[in-house]
Amino acid sequence: MKSLKQSAVETYLEFSSFEGSQHIASQFAIYKTLQIIRKNKVMNILEIGLGIGTLPSAVLNYFGSDINYSGTEDNEFCLKSLKEHLKSKKIEIFKNLDDVNLEKKYDLLIIDGKEPNLKKIANSLSQNAVIIIEGDRMNQYQEILHMFSKSLFVHMTSNKKNHPKGVFDENNWQGGVKVFFINPTIKQKIYWFKEKLNTKFNYLKRKNF
Ligand SMILES: C[S@@+](CC[C@H](N)C(=O)[O-])C[C@H]1O[C@@H](n2cnc3c(N)ncnc32)[C@H](O)[C@@H]1O
Repeated sequence: MKSLKQSAVETYLEFSSFEGSQHIASQFAIYKTLQIIRKNKVMNILEIGLGIGTLPSAVLNYFGSDINYSGTEDNEFCLKSLKEHLKSKKIEIFKNLDDVNLEKKYDLLIIDGKEPNLKKIANSLSQNAVIIIEGDRMNQYQEILHMFSKSLFVHMTSNKKNHPKGVFDENNWQGGVKVFFINPTIKQKIYWFKEKLNTKFNYLKRKNF
């Protein structure tokens, strides 16, 4: 079996070569998403803003079709790309949150696109769900913080620059992810604490680089 890191770099490089790749998830974001799924035994995933399908491709290739992956996308170019890139994959694609089955409980919510009614998701997350926000997305970060004010939060950052063969500038650090544990278990608290320390070390390393 491939390592999570190897899978992440392969997906990142594959999707870097596709048209419209300028908005894809970073190599680090793909790796952390896979790691969080494995550590938390995630089964039901909802992604807001599927883009051209980098994350579902990485996730479904690695974990297989036992995972239930749903997501939203309304950009015509992306919808066409998703059809091409996820041809044989089990995934449900909706225009927006209004069309999503909110009776279901999602273990992982990934936010990487616009959604005016994000609040609607509040009661559709499982007890110990994790929320990942890709990139900056300050408005959505504030909204989630407000909705889940008791959650634990960490901004995970990478200590590695972008791969020279990928779509992003090799002189820049790989993009990070903002992660919320809405009702953390002991295991999640330990993971959160280690990641907080990593972020601190990375900050110091970057400052002295
Ligand atoms: C950052 S992208 C999501 C990327 C996705 N997580 C991935 O890794 O493939 C967020 C939003 O940007 C828009 N978008 C992404 N790529 C685009 C493109 N090439 N052209 C136009 N809009 C795009 C889509 O509406 C999408 O929901």
